[in-house]
Amino acid sequence: MKVIWNDKIVERSEVKIDMEDRGYQFADGIYDVVRAYNGKFFTLNEHVDRLFSSAEKIELVMPFTKDELKQLLSTLMKENGISTGNIYMQVTRGIGIPRNHTYTDPELVPPVFTATTTIVPRDQEKMDQGMSAFIVPDMRWLRCDIKSISLLGNIMAKHEAHKKGGDEAILHRDGIVTECSSSNVWMIKDDTIYTHPDGNLVLPGITKIMLLKVAREAGMLVKEEAFTIEDLKKADEVFASSTTMEAMPIVSIDGNPVGHGQRGAVVEKLQQLYVDAVE
Ligand code: PDD
Repeated sequence: MKVIWNDKIVERSEVKIDMEDRGYQFADGIYDVVRAYNGKFFTLNEHVDRLFSSAEKIELVMPFTKDELKQLLSTLMKENGISTGNIYMQVTRGIGIPRNHTYTDPELVPPVFTATTTIVPRDQEKMDQGMSAFIVPDMRWLRCDIKSISLLGNIMAKHEAHKKGGDEAILHRDGIVTECSSSNVWMIKDDTIYTHPDGNLVLPGITKIMLLKVAREAGMLVKEEAFTIEDLKKADEVFASSTTMEAMPIVSIDGNPVGHGQRGAVVEKLQQLYVDAVE
């Protein structure tokens, strides 16, 4: 499998990253994940725009233009023969010697860009059956809108859920549900669909934007409003959304069934609308 290393496509074994890279030392970098279906990227522009926007928010100067990046990503997918799968890409602030929290002029130190591909088919069985989640305090920082590679808060939350046998962690701040450890979270009550509004407490998910769009176009009632753990526990349906999961039903929370403990009709409809948008 080939990878992108800065502006070149090379074998993974050829990549050399300096141990003084700020990504390695400080998690000083950003990332994004974009998916392709049947040889075609889905929402590539949105993902590239978000990567550039994350870069801008941390004063990181991207080493190429959006078009150059899209070209590189397409070439990598073709060279690796990926039809349906994901590209993970990240950019770090590059080398900083001696180690110092402050960084020098972003124009002077080249950032380091890398990207890898994986073949990932849609997990239809999981999407039919749904997953389980546990509620965990949101211990992350206050700029969750930046897709930072610094993910310890997310990792610790997901691991907590995994230890209890769950698939995802639903995060809350003082009782207000924010998002999941690696996805946005939604609930449905009396046919109204709720999800936390964008802002500094959640990642502005691209899947979320797409689902909001298709749901509204289909005449479904959607509210970008925060909800509490209590609301969540009384919800008719709950689901998570991300590039890799699409709309994934959450059928149990903290060991208790959500609604009837099976995928609900609203999530099923959203899954279908999303598949239609992809095709
Ligand atoms: N996760 N919230 C968090 C914290 C995320 O990490 C993600 C994505 C999302 C959903 O965003 P999108 O719909 O744009 O994929 C929400 C990616 C897939 C990951 O870390 O692998």
